[in-house]
Amino acid sequence: MSNDRRLREQADTAIETHQEIVKQDPYRQAFHMSPPVGLLNDPNGWIQWKGTYHLYFQWMPFHTGHGAKFWGHFSSDNLVEWKLEPTALTPSDWFDQSGCYSGSAIDYDGKMKIYYTGNVKDENGQRETYQCSAESVNGIEFVKNGVEIELPQGYTPHFRDPKVWKHGDHWYMVIGAQTEDLYGCVVLFESEDAKEWGFRGELSHSAGKEFGYLGYMWECPDLFTLNGQDVLLFSPQGVEADGINYNNLYQTGYVVGKLDYQQAQFQHNRFEELDRGFEFYAPQTTCDDKGRRLLVGWMGCPDQEEKAQPTHRYHWVHCMTIPRELSLENDKLIQRPVTELTDLRTVQRYDEQVAEKGIFELDRVSEMQIDGPIEEVNLLNYARLVYERDSGLLTLLRPALNGTVESRSCRLPQGVNQLQLYIDRSSVEIFVNDGEEVFTSRMFADTEARTVEVKIEVSTTANVKVWSLRDDV
Ligand code: FRU
Repeated sequence: MSNDRRLREQADTAIETHQEIVKQDPYRQAFHMSPPVGLLNDPNGWIQWKGTYHLYFQWMPFHTGHGAKFWGHFSSDNLVEWKLEPTALTPSDWFDQSGCYSGSAIDYDGKMKIYYTGNVKDENGQRETYQCSAESVNGIEFVKNGVEIELPQGYTPHFRDPKVWKHGDHWYMVIGAQTEDLYGCVVLFESEDAKEWGFRGELSHSAGKEFGYLGYMWECPDLFTLNGQDVLLFSPQGVEADGINYNNLYQTGYVVGKLDYQQAQFQHNRFEELDRGFEFYAPQTTCDDKGRRLLVGWMGCPDQEEKAQPTHRYHWVHCMTIPRELSLENDKLIQRPVTELTDLRTVQRYDEQVAEKGIFELDRVSEMQIDGPIEEVNLLNYARLVYERDSGLLTLLRPALNGTVESRSCRLPQGVNQLQLYIDRSSVEIFVNDGEEVFTSRMFADTEARTVEVKIEVSTTANVKVWSLRDDV
């Protein structure tokens, strides 16, 4: 039996063996893409192709830790209902035997072509990296082409996560990299045929004049145009916390500027974090047939303590964010839930005015919108969102593992006038001021409570709308 076949069968067996226990988890998500069993991390190969949305994902089917990753696969016609498809890639070849790491998808002459990093580690833990490709006629079964790009000189084997796009009649690829002197950066490759790639140079570097120092490794780059500007999104590692910034172990953010394709130079402004919550990393974007720039992120953070995710006990861990539409307003990325998500609504529970204070009983799977000058929102006596007018800080607080409280903040001098919360069984995504800021976080509140009690304080009055959401997607 081929290596690929054997690994596929083992992954299928892992699903069969553990899917019942996964379903019993009270923290199992209702409408967020989650692994059937095992561990999920980065979104990969995010594309709308021949009318269908495909989202592949980094997947470890056999346990809830990291390791030799597979590419799992979800598909959807509407961005609301997701179907688990057969395993897309297994780490079955010499060039990807320690993991089919992250990458992206393109339409190539009517076929789907994916690019990913083949990760290889020898017995001594020495790492090799290969940028590989595979092709498919249906987006389901892939034929690997093998290695397309070897590691160029000047970089360590922390060189991965190819994102490919077309500009004019050439193809371009960004890769997340670490220089030999241990700085993070993003490099650019160019190709006429999407097969033979030429190295063009570095687009941005951790010691660049815009940053001072921005870490020892940059993962999962993505480059796209929005509103006439170029946006480079990436996830740096090794950035020290600085006041309210960079409080997660690893960050995700972006720079905005102009890519000169001729010179392979990218003039850009400073780094801005994309999300303010506790769990958000390695997002990827694609452009769909409505011309929307859509983003999905991993609702996790690498190297987090295992105890932080109680779902381990039920043989699964982590999930994706909801799909969000990006726009660029005054050089700032704005994130809004895709409009299709209104199809998740079942019954409307509330539509009412509150004066100063209100208490609401929500189903565990709900959407809530608050319009008005918000001062505090208390969720399930677990998480609290507090706005302090004097400092202009909006802060999300939740219990920390060591028994204290942990918090994340962002600055909103103009106040908080609108909130949209997507609440699932173990997460909350809070869109602030119509997508100006987002807090994405897992929320492991008391599972006994059948409803979510939300207490709200506003400085004058607010309108509150609540919907229960579908539980069967
Ligand atoms: C980011 C990352 C990527 C890598 C993948 C491996 O979370 O470390 O750089 O390709 O995960 O699963």
